[in-house]
Amino acid sequence: MTRVTTRAGAGNIRPRRRPASTAQAAAPEVASQVASQVAVRAVRRQDLDRVIAIDASVTGVEKRAYWLSVLRRYGDGETPERQFLVAEVDGRVAGFIIGEVRDWEFGAPPCGWVFAIDVAPEFRLGGIATRMLDALRTGFRRAGVRKLRTMLARDNTLILSFFRSQGMMTGPFIPLEMDLDG
Ligand SMILES: CC(C)(COP(=O)(O)OP(=O)(O)OC[C@H]1O[C@@H](n2cnc3c(N)ncnc32)[C@H](O)[C@@H]1OP(=O)(O)O)[C@@H](O)C(=O)NCCC(=O)NCCS
Repeated sequence: MTRVTTRAGAGNIRPRRRPASTAQAAAPEVASQVASQVAVRAVRRQDLDRVIAIDASVTGVEKRAYWLSVLRRYGDGETPERQFLVAEVDGRVAGFIIGEVRDWEFGAPPCGWVFAIDVAPEFRLGGIATRMLDALRTGFRRAGVRKLRTMLARDNTLILSFFRSQGMMTGPFIPLEMDLDG
């Protein structure tokens, strides 16, 4: 995979929701209000600064050259096999998702890969990532694939919780790596 932005670590895991009788029960209503205001669309050149800022808020690193190359490769907005989508709330980019169809990688038939998803901290828990993943899946179905995959850091329980909530489960592959020093 080109890049996996499963890197926010284990921080900010929300405790399970309590029953409706407790003070925390308002969260689902807030979430559904945000979700109903979200528009998911293809990225535009002018979104890039905001995308870079959201990414930097998660990783702590501003990678303008990297994001320009991602925009060139995935940003044409016309290819369901290569998608770079943003979620907009009240005219503000609140998050982004990037994925592509990979053919016969690891010997597997063509399938869709999500390799980046981020929602700005102030917009989280409003269903935005869910909406973006839905849009990505729709595009992949149009491209003719029937399987979605991703890879994530073992200790990133936040993104693991999100993907599990979407119905994703452990796949048939295992990652291997080695040092190339010496
Ligand atoms: C993971 C992330 C994309 C989720 O975005 P989001 O818009 O808040 O997600 P949603 O509101 O659509 O949440 C959908 C489900 O994910 C799970 N989830 C999301 N955030 C969670 C949290 N903090 N704790 C526990 N579960 C969580 C829940 O099951 C939630 O469903 P529910 O609200 O009905 O319980 C966002 O938190 C984020 O950008 N995190 C940091 C960046 C990162 O690690 N990116 C991954 C790179 S691949």
